[in-house]
Amino acid sequence: MEIKNLCCAITGAGSGLGKQMALDFAGLGAKVYAIDINEDNLKKLQDQSDGKIKYHIGNVCDEENIKNVFENIAKENGSLDVLINNAGITKDGLLIKVKDDKIETMSLDSFQRVIDVNLTGVFLCSREAAKIMQPKKQGVIINISSVSRAGNMGQTNYSAAKAGVDAMTVTWSKELARYNIRCAAIAPGYIATEMVKAINPAILEKIVSKVPLRRLGEMSEISRTAQFIIENDFVNGKILEIDGGLRI
Ligand SMILES: NC(=O)c1ccc[n+]([C@@H]2O[C@H](COP(=O)([O-])OP(=O)(O)OC[C@H]3O[C@@H](n4cnc5c(N)ncnc54)[C@H](O)[C@@H]3O)[C@@H](O)[C@H]2O)c1
Repeated sequence: MEIKNLCCAITGAGSGLGKQMALDFAGLGAKVYAIDINEDNLKKLQDQSDGKIKYHIGNVCDEENIKNVFENIAKENGSLDVLINNAGITKDGLLIKVKDDKIETMSLDSFQRVIDVNLTGVFLCSREAAKIMQPKKQGVIINISSVSRAGNMGQTNYSAAKAGVDAMTVTWSKELARYNIRCAAIAPGYIATEMVKAINPAILEKIVSKVPLRRLGEMSEISRTAQFIIENDFVNGKILEIDGGLRI
């Protein structure tokens, strides 16, 4: 599918990778709907795109809210061709940590909140999007996973969510193919978003030293991968690792 004129919904588009994809896709002539909980950032994005990017305030883990958001997109546009499940959060911590002879633990709240946004949110948005895509017999769902999907120190919650996202990707690539809806994922390594660039330089240097290419990825490198998945109609059920060769 050529990206021009496609209707693309991108969750978590208020900042970072989602914002980059929204601006890039709008620049390529797609009709972009940005979905985020941060209204200020959504407004700024709309202004930055000279009004080309439309937005809906939406919390990916709130079922009623997300149903309404996708129903409104379908009403406004008549269809939806692409969903990018990009919204994500981290709440890092060790499962248990011994400090001064006391044991600290990852709280259930930290675990559950990351699962809610990063896993349940992907389920809800994909379900609502697939309902809209099915009658048209055309669609692509792209899930943003992570190199942490393999299991990363301090990320019990995040790694579990991203591994689950990968499993849903493969499941949907099988279930939805009959409706000509493809599903694939991108597992980025460390990407130079504002947040990553703000990490303490000493820690950042340590991170980069583990990447065979000895640099952070560029946001545009993830955006171009999403474009590739959309435009190559034979990509289905795969997790594309865009990480400079990093193995955690
Ligand atoms: N930045 C990296 O190096 C990196 C690496 C691997 C994977 N990822 C993944 O890429 C995606 C984007 O990451 P980023 O670094 O751009 O993050 P970011 O924090 O810059 O952006 C995430 C966006 O999601 C929004 N969001 C959070 N909770 C939400 C909710 N419940 N509903 C709707 N929107 C919500 C935030 O408001 C924010 O705008 C995430 O899924 C993340 O796990 C990022």
